[in-house]
Amino acid sequence: MKLHIAVLPGDGIGPEVIAQAVKALKSIATVYDHIFTFEYGLVGAAAINKTGIALPEETLALCKKADTILFGAIGSPKYENDPEAKIRPEQGLLGLRKELDLHTNIRPVVAYEDLSNKSPLRKKWIKDVNLCFYRELTGGIYFGEKTFSEDGNTATDTCTYTRNEIERVAHRAFKAAQSRKHKLTLVDKANVLASSKLWRKIIKEIAIQYPDVAVNYLYVDQVAMQLILNPKQFDIILIENMFGDIISEEASVIVGSIGLLASASIGDKYSMFEPIHGAYYKATDRGIANPIAAILSAAMLLEHFDLYEEANLIKKAVDKSLQLQITTPDLNTKYDNISTSKVGDFIEDFINNPEETNLN
Ligand code: IPM
Repeated sequence: MKLHIAVLPGDGIGPEVIAQAVKALKSIATVYDHIFTFEYGLVGAAAINKTGIALPEETLALCKKADTILFGAIGSPKYENDPEAKIRPEQGLLGLRKELDLHTNIRPVVAYEDLSNKSPLRKKWIKDVNLCFYRELTGGIYFGEKTFSEDGNTATDTCTYTRNEIERVAHRAFKAAQSRKHKLTLVDKANVLASSKLWRKIIKEIAIQYPDVAVNYLYVDQVAMQLILNPKQFDIILIENMFGDIISEEASVIVGSIGLLASASIGDKYSMFEPIHGAYYKATDRGIANPIAAILSAAMLLEHFDLYEEANLIKKAVDKSLQLQITTPDLNTKYDNISTSKVGDFIEDFINNPEETNLN
């Protein structure tokens, strides 16, 4: 298969982890005789520094002409303490999601047996956790009207959802549930919010079309608790934009490190793959950033193009690296000097030679 991949490494640890994901994809291309080409673009603070804006026209054009996008991370401490900054790195990511209409964000959370002692949660509760968020990504309060009053003392964010926005992510989530454990949880705040009431009403209607999927409805505050108390009860979690941001980050506690969680953002025309972690600026260029989330995002990219065998080989390589503790310090208690690129090298070697790869 031929794939032209737009690569947007972004800020902080983005470039380091994306370099490892690209390495994995290059090895896959060699082993399976695919032609993957990579074209790089600027986004986030890296783009602001060079062009003055977070999502330059050139980057958007590159993403539109590519077959898919691999995204690193964005953010910079320069903007953290200036809430009124007109230009912010996040505009790069939010702009891409909106411009490319990447409405469905898929975030799998799978607990690894080999990491069960890395989570602060009890082993018996996290064993066998395998859930997946379907987060609506282009609507809700993130993209509603935002205003500041003239006197600067009142601020307003509007949360709007339309039937179409809810239906398109919901159908994808229900279909995913059908291919998994046939369970879907809608997360909302329908006891308070009008937009949540609309979500609940529409999901109840859609559920009739999927009689083999058991649906339950939970308020977001209950989910915040249940996810920690008993995460195994969940399969597909369908969730609106802002709740999804918060609750999916909470889920990283289950697996032991946010450096493990990958994601896919899918629209009707475009697709983008990115680790769910941020730019983690403090770790930049120190070789300590965990590249697994980026590498697993590359595996999700392959799955999107039906390259399941290739994606499974990457996942196997990741399993092996976790099993042998060839991991960065966030997960490692055995070796002290395994760097980001060393993990990437191991994954690359494994892809090239699955039978013989060990730490050397
Ligand atoms: C995420 C991030 C983004 C979000 C930020 C960087 C705008 O936290 O992808 O979850 O809030 O959606």
